[in-house]
Amino acid sequence: MFSELKATHITSGSVDDPATLRALADLYPYPPTSSSPPGTGTPWFRVNFVSSIDGAVTRNGKSGDLAGPGDRAVFRVLRALADVVVVGARTALTEGYRQPQPDDVFVAARRRDGQAPAPTLALVSRSLGIPTDYSPLAHPDTVIFTCEAAPADRRRALTDAGATVVSCGEDTVDPELLIRECGERGWGRVLCEGGPSLFGSALAAGVVDELCHTTSPMLVAGGAGRIANGPALASQRSMRPVTVVADDDGFVFTRWVREPAR
Ligand SMILES: NC(=O)c1ccc[n+]([C@@H]2O[C@H](COP(=O)([O-])OP(=O)(O)OC[C@H]3O[C@@H](n4cnc5c(N)ncnc54)[C@H](OP(=O)(O)O)[C@@H]3O)[C@@H](O)[C@H]2O)c1
Repeated sequence: MFSELKATHITSGSVDDPATLRALADLYPYPPTSSSPPGTGTPWFRVNFVSSIDGAVTRNGKSGDLAGPGDRAVFRVLRALADVVVVGARTALTEGYRQPQPDDVFVAARRRDGQAPAPTLALVSRSLGIPTDYSPLAHPDTVIFTCEAAPADRRRALTDAGATVVSCGEDTVDPELLIRECGERGWGRVLCEGGPSLFGSALAAGVVDELCHTTSPMLVAGGAGRIANGPALASQRSMRPVTVVADDDGFVFTRWVREPAR
């Protein structure tokens, strides 16, 4: 009944080493079907979070204070594998998100796999309160996923500022429609970096294929929320652990896929 899942060890001193990063990437493969041509196949919806041992999703209001070198390496690798980084507007603004840049270690592999040099940034927002001078909006590939109920004046302001604003639902962004939109744009490898509200919506919609989770080796107590926020699910989602990695600093990286697969 019991079996030990052995952790693969990475040393924190080597997290910038290309060989270590490529070895990490080998532990986080997307399924082959996710590279289907645009409009065919269902994108793979991967989510990435870090939390403390006691379940806090932030420390001092940010996830960065829970991170370490190994976690930053996993974050980097997951981005290097993705076609699109989907993130809630609040997280993008709170965490000071910038346009994802090409990663020298992975540029050749991405070219070989027919991917753009760097993933696209896709922001999710109902209020469209994103400032028009928010720098990633200047990038031609950046997309804002919103809904019909979004304020028309904000939609106009962001569109006039050059942003691509796409409706995926009526009153709120429907994760199913968001994923369909990703598929039509040829983004089969989706990486959702949260935050907890967006993850809660995705769980409620039943679209989460995979959770990559870092346990930060600290106890922080306090009032920080959990990685998923929103109404309790009517029935639980079962997930199967497929990867366990540890680093010298005590961080534990797990990868869970849905059971059964979608
Ligand atoms: N530990 C980690 O790994 C991690 C990861 C990510 C974030 N965080 C932390 O989480 C905190 C933010 O939490 P949060 O729950 O507010 O984050 P969030 O999910 O990024 O942001 C919520 C906002 O995203 C938009 N949104 C999310 N789901 C939506 C939907 N279905 N339809 C339309 N809009 C939707 C809305 O934007 P509008 O308000 O613009 O309508 C909503 O207010 C920050 O402190 C951040 O640092 C931690």
